[in-house]
Amino acid sequence: MNLMETHTEIIKSTAIEYAVMNEISQRRSKRAYAPTPVSNEIINSLFEAARWAPSSMNEQPWVYLYATPDQPELREKIIQALNDSNKIWAKQAPLLIVSLARKTLLRNGVINGSARYDVGGANALLSLQATREGLNVHQMGGYNRQVLIDNLNIPDSHEPLVVMAIGYPGDLESLPENLRQREIAPRERFRQEFFVRNESF
Ligand SMILES: Cc1cc2nc3c(=O)[nH]c(=O)nc-3n(C[C@H](O)[C@H](O)[C@H](O)COP(=O)(O)O)c2cc1C
Repeated sequence: MNLMETHTEIIKSTAIEYAVMNEISQRRSKRAYAPTPVSNEIINSLFEAARWAPSSMNEQPWVYLYATPDQPELREKIIQALNDSNKIWAKQAPLLIVSLARKTLLRNGVINGSARYDVGGANALLSLQATREGLNVHQMGGYNRQVLIDNLNIPDSHEPLVVMAIGYPGDLESLPENLRQREIAPRERFRQEFFVRNESF
């Protein structure tokens, strides 16, 4: 079978087909948040998970800016940058984290071609740690980059990647109908046969 010619719909499924860690099966990008704040200790655990991610040459190119409900002005600076479709639900999340990549290597100032990859890996570990804590993480690329850069004084040496809305799962009734439906819809993924090969490409 030529995988690339296969119609994608027929090789998606909603089932977790092989055993994975609970944190992987339970993670989901939800949109309804409870107002319960995330404690400083747990916030530190999330960043500790990111801290121990692998990175090219151990450069650790991740930088995080975050805002809690105690910092309404800082939160507003992040929320203001979000696309309206994200703002509507993400503004309810008690913890907002902006992930950035340091563009160049600390050792010699050369462009770090792995920076985005490494920040993605760190964000993945942060997300799994959050899931273990019973938190929901919803990553967003839907924001106005220039507004975020201006509002947070992000220097040219750093590139904003995803913004994360984090909090404990909340009441579905708090969401508009269209988002409520998305929240309860089964998730689906390509089956392994679409992206895994035990042969040359
Ligand atoms: C880089 C990136 C950008 C994303 N941007 C948005 C976004 O702007 N708005 C949104 O609602 N979800 C966004 N998502 C969430 C994805 O839509 C979600 O992860 C995907 O549909 C799979 O669902 P799941 O995370 O619940 O498994 C983003 C995810 C990633 C990794």
